[in-house]
Amino acid sequence: MNARSTTTWIALLAAALLLPGCQPAGNQSGGEIVVGEYASLTGKEATFGISSHEGTLLAITELNAAGGLLGKKLRLQTEDTQSKAGESATVVNKLIARDGAIAILGEVASSRSLEAAPICQQAGIPMISPSSTNPKVTETGDFIFRVCFIDPFQGTVMANFARKTLKAKRVAIFTDVKSDYSKGLAKFFKEGFLKEAGYEIAVELDFNGGDKDFKAQLTAIKGAKPDAVFAPCYYTDAALICIQARQLALNVPFFGGDGWESDLLMKIGGESVEGHYFSTHYSPDADGGKGKEFVEAYKKAYNGKLPDAMAALGYDSAMILADAVKRGGSTEPQKLRAALADTQNYDAVTGRITINPSRDATKSAVILQVKDGKFKFIETITP
Ligand code: PHE
Repeated sequence: MNARSTTTWIALLAAALLLPGCQPAGNQSGGEIVVGEYASLTGKEATFGISSHEGTLLAITELNAAGGLLGKKLRLQTEDTQSKAGESATVVNKLIARDGAIAILGEVASSRSLEAAPICQQAGIPMISPSSTNPKVTETGDFIFRVCFIDPFQGTVMANFARKTLKAKRVAIFTDVKSDYSKGLAKFFKEGFLKEAGYEIAVELDFNGGDKDFKAQLTAIKGAKPDAVFAPCYYTDAALICIQARQLALNVPFFGGDGWESDLLMKIGGESVEGHYFSTHYSPDADGGKGKEFVEAYKKAYNGKLPDAMAALGYDSAMILADAVKRGGSTEPQKLRAALADTQNYDAVTGRITINPSRDATKSAVILQVKDGKFKFIETITP
């Protein structure tokens, strides 16, 4: 066979696998259960996808070591969204049509979860986002779940933090208009901050995720004389924003949400991110319990690396799925959906998980500060 006809054959085979009714039988009737995962393994938010994947894979490995589910082994099929718009829909279609995944785990970023959720909902395949916090994600429909808190809570937490800990009266807000997460969190923060009299928003400005030059907006922010700046964006942008703020001698505290959490925040931002704060879902330094075992297992699996929030939530998303398969005794989509919706008081690494009627989890948040190039645990805030 020459190269050309090989390519044609591969194309035909791929097309056949995508046709309904032509799915590989491995998923339900064969010897394995396929779990689909989509994550940003490369690109601008690569550390999100890598961490989340590592946590998810650890859970699948542990489940298989304990005998799998319903007498079958699990296979995690992971697809890279490349941190790009448009990829999530493509890869999730593949995971459902080509691989026959019983459920889809992902994504971290809300905009990408929002892209794939309608596909899962339409196909009637449960999706569990480990860590997307925009409320709209689970509003997509009754097949869409998450194992984390949502941004109305996170926004309130940071509004209280700004008032009580930072003692800020006037806060500037700097939003990434390309991100549903950023827009939502900015809005919820603002509502929370203005709830008490005597507090005001000094100025609201925006940028496009991926921009490199923030000087014009930061100059305007400096001119508005805020006591602090809330920048609910992702780590790459956050680091550059902090660097340029220092260059402009805009020396007030900056703070963000879970999107800041990455080692790259410090690697890119260096000195400029020192002392700044953000909220997130989990800290290996918070409290003991089940968290300890997870930290040890994760370090063992990944060369001593400490798990972050995405790793812990990725792990929890797979464990919540496994728990639902066990309780419902089935991987059949409707039964699995019902069992997921019934999740109550599951003892997870990131806290107790009860899936509420909106298919979200009510959980506490933690606040971290960048201190000496590391994340320092400041406090836990319960809902
Ligand atoms: N919550 C963010 C979003 O919805 C993603 C995120 C979760 C980032 C956890 C870091 C840690 O887009």
